[in-house]
Amino acid sequence: MPVTVIDHPLAADLLTRLRDGRTGPAEFRALTRRLGAILVVEATRHLPTVQREVHTPLEAYTGAALGVDLVAIPVLRAGLGLLDAVTDLYPDAVVGYLGMERDEETHEPRDYYAKLPPMGGKHALVLDPMLATGGSGSAACTYVQNAGPRGLTFVCVVAAPEGVERMEADHPDVTIVAGALDRQLDANAYILPGLGDFGDRLYGTE
Ligand code: PRP
Ligand code: URA
Repeated sequence: MPVTVIDHPLAADLLTRLRDGRTGPAEFRALTRRLGAILVVEATRHLPTVQREVHTPLEAYTGAALGVDLVAIPVLRAGLGLLDAVTDLYPDAVVGYLGMERDEETHEPRDYYAKLPPMGGKHALVLDPMLATGGSGSAACTYVQNAGPRGLTFVCVVAAPEGVERMEADHPDVTIVAGALDRQLDANAYILPGLGDFGDRLYGTE
């Protein structure tokens, strides 16, 4: 499974601000949306295009149009922070939701909600900013793959090596696009250096 880690000065700048523990929820949300746009551009780089005829004010022109329908699937809650990045860039995207919560003791995900549009022939962007143990990401991808999309890309802000390994084992056909690949997990399965609990920082909860 290919992993693409964004290597870009603007993305690095946005990510450093997100990592900064002093960044409050309002700024955190804005930074997530901006970094999300860079991640979504990368995540859609290899999607097919079709020819489209238009008329400029001067003459006929054959251009390109996206050749596949896009479904954005944020994993609640933290994935909601990346949803606007998709709909800003491609407002025709339809949206599905998956609710997953990691158990604080076992670190296993518990799914509590799912609502997907018909997925046949469509490309799914699964949005979850943190890929830690990979339990939630893998479960989300399994759910979406069972709905039969044409392709699936997993979009995250920070990935841990442990999560990438888990995804490689469970979903060798899924591409991951990440803002950074961090060092390791701590004893509580938080990513180091990471940025803490993404959902809490996004919404000001603890
Ligand atoms: C976070 C994050 C991922 C998961 C990653 O969600 O958004 O879904 O943890 O951890 P994993 O790779 O070890 O499964 P969390 O469970 O904190 O829920 P929240 O989004 O509602 O805050
Ligand atoms: N979930 C988060 O929000 N942060 C981590 O570091 C790990 C899981």
